[in-house]
Amino acid sequence: MQFPVKHSSTGTTIFTVMSGLAAQYQAINLSQGFPDYPLDPELSDLLGEAATKGFNQYAPMPGLPMLREAISNDWRKRNNVKIDADTEITVTPGATYGISTAFATILEAGDEAIVLEPAYDSYIPGIEMCGAKAVLVQLNYPSFSVDWNKVKDAITPKTKCIIFNTPHNPTGAVLSLQDLNTLADIIRDTNIVLISDEVYEQLIFDGLKHHSVLEHSELRQRSFAVFSFGKVFNNTGWKVGYTVAPPAFTAAYRAIHQYLCFTVNSPSQYALAKFMAHTGLEPIGRVMERKRNYFLDLLRQTKFTIHQPTSGSYFQTASYENISDLGDYEFAQWLTKEHGVATIPISSFYKSKKDDKVIRFCFAKKEETLNVAIKRLMEL
Ligand SMILES: Cc1ncc(COP(=O)(O)O)c(C=O)c1O
Repeated sequence: MQFPVKHSSTGTTIFTVMSGLAAQYQAINLSQGFPDYPLDPELSDLLGEAATKGFNQYAPMPGLPMLREAISNDWRKRNNVKIDADTEITVTPGATYGISTAFATILEAGDEAIVLEPAYDSYIPGIEMCGAKAVLVQLNYPSFSVDWNKVKDAITPKTKCIIFNTPHNPTGAVLSLQDLNTLADIIRDTNIVLISDEVYEQLIFDGLKHHSVLEHSELRQRSFAVFSFGKVFNNTGWKVGYTVAPPAFTAAYRAIHQYLCFTVNSPSQYALAKFMAHTGLEPIGRVMERKRNYFLDLLRQTKFTIHQPTSGSYFQTASYENISDLGDYEFAQWLTKEHGVATIPISSFYKSKKDDKVIRFCFAKKEETLNVAIKRLMEL
């Protein structure tokens, strides 16, 4: 029997491929974006408490009210942004789902969605699974800034949405307020919807400020903003996130969400809600900035070329032009198999597999892990 092919990406996602290879060759895994240190013990205790206290049945479809309230309070406290917990927040099983559900909410067959490349690898399949077309605009290399004229030129009467990501995976670039204002100018007279992937919003460095669509009064009216707890609380495996959108968008979004998964697991929602009420935690951005600095100091001792220190996320890109002529996919495989360090080739974030001979390291790891990895990289 032949199954219909729903999207153009073939094979398994690069994250699974490289993590699998890392395990096979017992390499240090700096490929997939997840921390290798434990989450706060209080958070894991709260998960147990949730089960004991009886949070074991279906949560309400949009998410536990206590978690939606906690999210709303968190945004008010951190950013002075008001979000209505009842009508604007939907708790999701992670941001990948949050994004696909936004696509499913707005895209119909024949629509176009603009994607800025390099792009997180779920975007294009998510668009194509709706029967829509991904229209690709490449970021400037090597700054990975946005050429807004190119975005403007890519807009057609069929453009239904633009998806973008700040802080950016895989490059660590961040959008400025000027970027958001330019985007607002470009789409002001259109019906284009924005999907703003802000999963790394709290991982931003060097005193830079994260500019959320939620703080931009004009863009907010037409945006789905997507977040993930995994990146903030070191629990990517819990797969819990949330999507914020204006009430009419949220109603349409929930109409899809209720049939795709209905609701997210209750114990995690309880634990996250209780944990968010705690104050006195060191902001994750500061923790991760120290890790970035630690990793950069080490990486500078190798032959890798760093075009610019990453401004956000937990990724650092580097070029290996002084080490090898291999393509980046082959280089990443070789590095894993022969030198025991797994990374991600940046070409996998381009549909065309554009190869600038750059790889991505995840530095959300223990110092011991980073030390061993760099020792191996220094031998190159
Ligand atoms: C840019 C970006 N968006 C979305 C996600 C997915 O987040 P989640 O694990 O919550 O699905 C990731 C995870 O790495 C990511 O890097």
